Amino acid sequence: MVRKYRIGNPIPTDSVVKEFQISEESIPHFDRNDEKKELSLLLKKNDKVFGLGETVRGMNKRGWLYTANNSDDPNHTENKNSLYASQNFFVVFSKEDQFGVYVDTPGKVSFDIGYTSLDKLVISFEDFDADIYIVEGSDVLDIVSQFRSIIGRSYIPPKWAFGFGQSRWSYMTADEVREVADKYAEAGIPLDMIYLDIDYMEKYKDFTVDESSFPEFPKFVEEMRARGIHLVPIIDAGVKVEEGYDVYDEGVEKGYFVKKENGENLLAAVWPGLVHFPDFLNDDARAWFGNKYKVLIDQGIDGFWNDMNEPAIFYTQDHLDEVFEQIEDYKGKNLDIKSFFAFKDLVGSIDNNPEDYRRFYHEYKGKRIRHDKVHNIFGYNMTRAAGEAFERICPDKRILMFSRSSYIGAHRYGGIWHGDNHSWWAHLLLNIQQMPAVNMCGFLYTGADIGGFGSDTTEDLVLRWTAFGIFTPLFRNHCAMGMRNQELYRFENIDAFRNIIKLRYALIPYLYSEFMKAALGDKMLFKPLCFEYGDDRSSQVEDQLLLGESIMLAPVYTQNATGRYVYLPEDMKLVRFRAYDDYDEEILQAGDHYVKAELNEVLVFVRKGHVLPLTTPEDGMKSVGDAEMTYICYDSDAASYELYTDDGVSRI
Ligand code: GLC
Repeated sequence: MVRKYRIGNPIPTDSVVKEFQISEESIPHFDRNDEKKELSLLLKKNDKVFGLGETVRGMNKRGWLYTANNSDDPNHTENKNSLYASQNFFVVFSKEDQFGVYVDTPGKVSFDIGYTSLDKLVISFEDFDADIYIVEGSDVLDIVSQFRSIIGRSYIPPKWAFGFGQSRWSYMTADEVREVADKYAEAGIPLDMIYLDIDYMEKYKDFTVDESSFPEFPKFVEEMRARGIHLVPIIDAGVKVEEGYDVYDEGVEKGYFVKKENGENLLAAVWPGLVHFPDFLNDDARAWFGNKYKVLIDQGIDGFWNDMNEPAIFYTQDHLDEVFEQIEDYKGKNLDIKSFFAFKDLVGSIDNNPEDYRRFYHEYKGKRIRHDKVHNIFGYNMTRAAGEAFERICPDKRILMFSRSSYIGAHRYGGIWHGDNHSWWAHLLLNIQQMPAVNMCGFLYTGADIGGFGSDTTEDLVLRWTAFGIFTPLFRNHCAMGMRNQELYRFENIDAFRNIIKLRYALIPYLYSEFMKAALGDKMLFKPLCFEYGDDRSSQVEDQLLLGESIMLAPVYTQNATGRYVYLPEDMKLVRFRAYDDYDEEILQAGDHYVKAELNEVLVFVRKGHVLPLTTPEDGMKSVGDAEMTYICYDSDAASYELYTDDGVSRI
């Protein structure tokens, strides 16, 4: 049962698709304090709080302060309060009771979950305007499903998007892209996607292709498709200011860019230097920008990633001018402890400055609204621009779309990737921990940059991360400019990488079936153990996951480890894969175990009475069928498995 309550006069987000009567009663579970703009509740000792989507720290969110304030912050360390997303749904549960809470407001909200006071959960609002949905259900999974049913069905990508993708900021020329494809082919490692980062564009202008480095682009797209590879270009939120560039000219002429108070278009800067931001919240501007994807679709492209859409702002022209003026005050001075740090702050805080988000306005649902009030739905509406346009441009075909910034609602139009992580072991663990949390909020097609985006990676980290990544729907190795190369063929253990990637392809019938069942049935794909098992130990396990109905994962995420401790809430069959067709099986009793896992091994635990289907992988998604299947069963008498199949491209 879901009930809707209203505080103040919230700005709609269109995240909930179901119509509700607003309950006049007071919001259950919470104390409301209008003066402090807070909702609070006392947590019992054994209450757990799971959810909040893409945030830092563990699965149980108790013990930290999380702020919904979409931020371009490439350091996902545990002292951060915000990442790129606002996914304000969580469940409070213990053995005795449980309920879900969705805080729907496009502005800033803080979730103090035992940070200020260990046993208190306090939601505080910048503006006390929000729709609050309280979800009651028989257990956590039921609550999540009910919540998911009110926010609409999750985005379904084309089946080929479950293949392996290689990315880099940036492959600078078509020849570099060809080389990546060649090297993967030489190594015998299947590859389905190569991502084009910002340098494929002409001077970082959206919907353009640099003719000198990517000549005859449609032909090149075709050439790669003939090799089984989809090229997936990036699209950024900012439109370069340049007269004669059609997107800029049209946007100016039609008034589709966000404006300052005085009515002028906001001048901000991102990769191309000065840009204007399309007003994705305005229906006409959103449709206009969405239609631009056709320029690339017409050249054979069938997938995109949307970036810098928090929006990331290097600087605004107005703020930069102010900074240059103030810098004068520091010239020639002996800078002391105070003035030096003030100077440093002045210059160091020009990017993503909170003040800049108050300098511009949107035309949203017939009203003029200052950006900071709707900040968290900007990226969502960029994804929506694309998703809505794809339905018009390709009514019969699925198009791959995922975004960096998000809000609940965006899950209907695309997936997400988890942004600029680092080549840190801690971020492999974070990847594991974020998967169920984003699933709770409707985001199913998700994944992190495998191997890590920032910092130099190491071969063992890429091996372990790939061994986990083969289970995530979005399966992409991506790396920042200037960092150590991390395409799999660069490393020594090519055989191990090939075997792990082929295992991914062998798992496709299972992964796709489970994904589709989750999408069509409003279910989670990745679950924390305690969502299924009621024992106390399960609720403490933060580094294992249930994936779909049949298997549990316990990835190795520490360096130099040749195994790990695993907790089994019930008897399971451990399958230790060295390759999709080379594995051993062992029945393990419920309880604690130390299990060995060498660098070339992938551990899968099959649940009792369940089946893990495997196919015979050949060369990428084009040859993934379910013709030659193997079934790994634990307790085959009781086991059955329903495979989901479709043509993988038609819209559903
Ligand atoms: C942002 C993206 C990253 C991309 C880079 C250059 O940092 O998060 O994935 O490679 O921009 O476009």
